[in-house]
Amino acid sequence: MREIIRKKRDGQKLDKSDIEFFINGVTTKEIPNYQISALLMAIFYKGMNLEETKDLTYFMLNSGKKLDLSGIKGPKIDKHSTGGVGDKISLILAPLAAEMGIIVPMITGRGLGHTGGTSDKMEAIPGYKTSLTFGQFERVLRKTGCSIISQTREIAPADKELYALRDATETVESVALITSSILSKKLAEDLDGLVIDLKVGEGAFMKDLASAKKLGEMMKKVGEELGTEMKIVFTDQSSPIGRNIGNAPEVIESVEILKGNLTDYTDTLEITKVLAEEMCSLAGIKVEILETLKSGKVFERFEKMVSLQGGDLSGLTTYKKSFEVKSTSEGIVEKIDAYKIGIAALKTGAGREKKEDNVDLKAGIKLLKVAGEEVRKGEALALVYTKKELEPIKESILSAYSVGKKLKKDKTKILEKW
Ligand code: URA
Repeated sequence: MREIIRKKRDGQKLDKSDIEFFINGVTTKEIPNYQISALLMAIFYKGMNLEETKDLTYFMLNSGKKLDLSGIKGPKIDKHSTGGVGDKISLILAPLAAEMGIIVPMITGRGLGHTGGTSDKMEAIPGYKTSLTFGQFERVLRKTGCSIISQTREIAPADKELYALRDATETVESVALITSSILSKKLAEDLDGLVIDLKVGEGAFMKDLASAKKLGEMMKKVGEELGTEMKIVFTDQSSPIGRNIGNAPEVIESVEILKGNLTDYTDTLEITKVLAEEMCSLAGIKVEILETLKSGKVFERFEKMVSLQGGDLSGLTTYKKSFEVKSTSEGIVEKIDAYKIGIAALKTGAGREKKEDNVDLKAGIKLLKVAGEEVRKGEALALVYTKKELEPIKESILSAYSVGKKLKKDKTKILEKW
């Protein structure tokens, strides 16, 4: 292992056999975490070319089992986000796509760095099990057309290990590591097609469109070389998505949208609609998306999936007590920095500082004022739900807000589609 670390540290290409040895050792836990972390840092700095990234993805994918969904009729299409702040799109999109006739076998990740993870969010629903056997997963898929689960020991276990270590060692923002992490889980799903929501901006791992395009190119090539049709949508993540950040708060927002509140969360809705269109295009179907969402059937489907996985939406709640963050100036909210809000959410307990930490599922932030809205001095900008020390959270939230005189022009969140 030392030789492999040295090779990458010195900027050399790793051979297929090096990558196979590394991933085997990660899966069997024979390589200690300090050596794994050292190699992750070397990959972070020196990068990997297409061949290395493809090999890494291949061995991570094959560290576990793959689903066989050939017994379920219908196009199998999924979407995955590269990680955002307030990104609860999967919760709405999975039952929406299923309602349109797509089978969505969604294997999701946990919070990573300052971003949230869908598995954690779903676990904010009391009783909801994200850890299902393949048999249970298939049963839910047959009954509802969608199922949201987390990686178990069966699915890409190497990613499960690496993901937690990357989170704790600040080695997330790497084209090779993000590509292999996402695709190793997603290609285990026996998909016909995959849509990537590639987030760009302060709250994303890729801060500008140029670096996002490098990731997009790598993901498209690796995914397609490993046999899955890919679509990439670049979406703006400079500000948080929607008004709620944190696990239970985001599920509550998703439920509101699923129940038909389509006016308060126009950004969440725009991204959901475009990703749904891309999923439909991969599936070769044409459906009126907003009409489907308004029908109430998508919420029924979500409820059914939740209950089949042991969850009870009636018990979903944040902390009853919340703390106000008051504006220190007057004017129009010009911008909210998504990264700073992501960090503030981490401080509430909604994310993990260390691999072993438990997340506080009820913790988080509600943004009462978003870009374009007026605020008076002393008026509440946001609410905080937390059991942690409040002052550092308030400071982070206040530093995320820019209040000025400019009126925001409504900008689309969709930057580019490939
Ligand atoms: N989502 C993942 O599953 N992995 C990453 O590396 C980033 C986002």
